[in-house]
Amino acid sequence: MEIIKVQDQVAGGKKAFELIKEGMENDSAKVLGLATGSSPITMYQEMVASDLDFSDMTAINLDEYVGLKGTDEQSYRFFMNDKLFNHKPFKASYVPDGMATDEKAECDRYDEIIANNPIDIQILGIGTNGHIGFNEPGTPFDSQTRRVGLVESTIESNKRFFDKKEDVPTEAYSMGIGSIMKAKKIILVAYGESKIDALKGMVEGPISTDCPASILQKHDNVVLIADEAALAGLS
Ligand code: F6R
Repeated sequence: MEIIKVQDQVAGGKKAFELIKEGMENDSAKVLGLATGSSPITMYQEMVASDLDFSDMTAINLDEYVGLKGTDEQSYRFFMNDKLFNHKPFKASYVPDGMATDEKAECDRYDEIIANNPIDIQILGIGTNGHIGFNEPGTPFDSQTRRVGLVESTIESNKRFFDKKEDVPTEAYSMGIGSIMKAKKIILVAYGESKIDALKGMVEGPISTDCPASILQKHDNVVLIADEAALAGLS
C-alpha cells in the first residue's frame, strides 16, 4: 500500500485528481468507482475545474440511501449530480436506486452493471469504524451489492448532512467488498483526527471484518491519501 501524506484536504484532492488524470492519459482509466461523503469533495472540485473530458467514461457509485429519490437533496444521486455529473457529463453514471421496491432485482441489476464495466479506479472514503462503502464491521469480505442497515455511529456521523438525526435513513444499498476488491486500483482519501483509528486498523491492524478496510492490505494497488491528523495513529 502506498501512503501519500498531504498537507490538507485541498492538497489531497489535487493528488487524487492527478492519479485519475494519469490513468485517463495512459488509457488505463475508463471506469471510475466513486464515493460520496465529505472526503472526495475536493477531488470532484479539481475534476470540475479541469479541462478534462469525461464523456467517454463510466462512473459507478458505491451506495445510495434506501427511501430517497434521486431528486432528494440528501440522496447520493443528487450529491453526485451536483458535485460532478452536472458539470462534467460522463458517458454513463450509475448509482443504486434508493426507491427500488424489488431488493433482489436491484442488487442483481447493480452487480451486473459492475460485471459489465470492470472498475479501473475505485475512489473510497472510510468511516470512523473502518467501513468502506456502507459495508459496516462484520460484513463478509466477499460480499456483493445488498441492502444494508447502517450502524449507530454511521447515522451519527452522517446526520450533519440532514436537518435532524431522525431524517437520516437507516438503510442503504451498498456495493459489496468483493466488488470493491476487484477494482484494478483503489484510492482511499481520509482527513482529520476522527479517522485515526480507522486508518490504523486499515494499514496496520489484523485483517478482520471488525475493520472492513483492513482487507485493502490484500489488494496490490492501493493508494492512501491522508493528512497528518488522520495518519497520526500509524507507527
Ligand atoms: C460514501 C461512502 C462512505 C464514506 C465514509 C466517509 O459513498 O461510501 O463509506 O466514504 O462514510 O465519509 P466522509 O468522507 O463524509 O467522512
